[in-house]
Amino acid sequence: MLQIFRDPAAIADYVSHLLIEKIRIKPNIVLGLATGGTMEPVYESFVRRALAQQLDVSQVTSFNLDEYVGLASDHPKSYAAYMHEHLFRHLNFDAARVHLPDGLATDLALHSDQYAALLRQAGGVELQLLGVGTNGHIGFNEPGTPFNTQCHVVQLSERTRLDNSRFFEGNAIVPASAITLGMKEIMQAREILLIATGEAKAQIVAHWYYNDVTEMIPFTVLKHHGRATIILDEAAASLLPEEATGQLLETPS
Ligand code: F6R
Repeated sequence: MLQIFRDPAAIADYVSHLLIEKIRIKPNIVLGLATGGTMEPVYESFVRRALAQQLDVSQVTSFNLDEYVGLASDHPKSYAAYMHEHLFRHLNFDAARVHLPDGLATDLALHSDQYAALLRQAGGVELQLLGVGTNGHIGFNEPGTPFNTQCHVVQLSERTRLDNSRFFEGNAIVPASAITLGMKEIMQAREILLIATGEAKAQIVAHWYYNDVTEMIPFTVLKHHGRATIILDEAAASLLPEEATGQLLETPS
């Protein structure tokens, strides 16, 4: 299913509204969370609404998709720090229920298996938030990753490191590798919302639209998921044919 909104702010309003509804219906929901520029307005809107409505998130369990290898959780560019900054610190999340891979684990392969096992023990993800890389990656599953891959350590592509260098100012270097949930765990989420915004995503969104499912464009695997919604703003949808884009959706008040 494809949904198109005017801009990132409209998407953020829609998705945050939906998240709050889901948490109200099921306070102990298991969420799959993503980081990156796309998610910043979503978390900002979620925090604003949740605070205004005094939403209790103390029973929510969350699993983040990925973390850079070599960055401690208190390193300012780690995804743990991102989550703390944009989401966790603002609301009453229970630190024991929020999970990210440990970028400093001594045995990364073992840690990847343990992270996947922890997710299974929690019953798997009910609602997964996803962004998409300009090369079509989801999580950090780069093009060519087999669809049956589980949580693993990945060498980031040059494209991804270049894209993400915007978050690493000065001479800081984007780490060369990361731990990511695999294509398998992502596809096991009961429901998926993939968000793509901005002109830079228009080309990969068009590739997703026009191509069959292929490991060379990991994002296309979502065509095989029964409950995946692709949420775009007008800029990201700008290379899609008119019959695909239909009418712009309004934001809930
Ligand atoms: C982040 C993640 C990545 C990003 C993707 C898009 O946790 O898993 O797949 O969602 O790289 O990043 P932005 O939103 O910065 O364009």
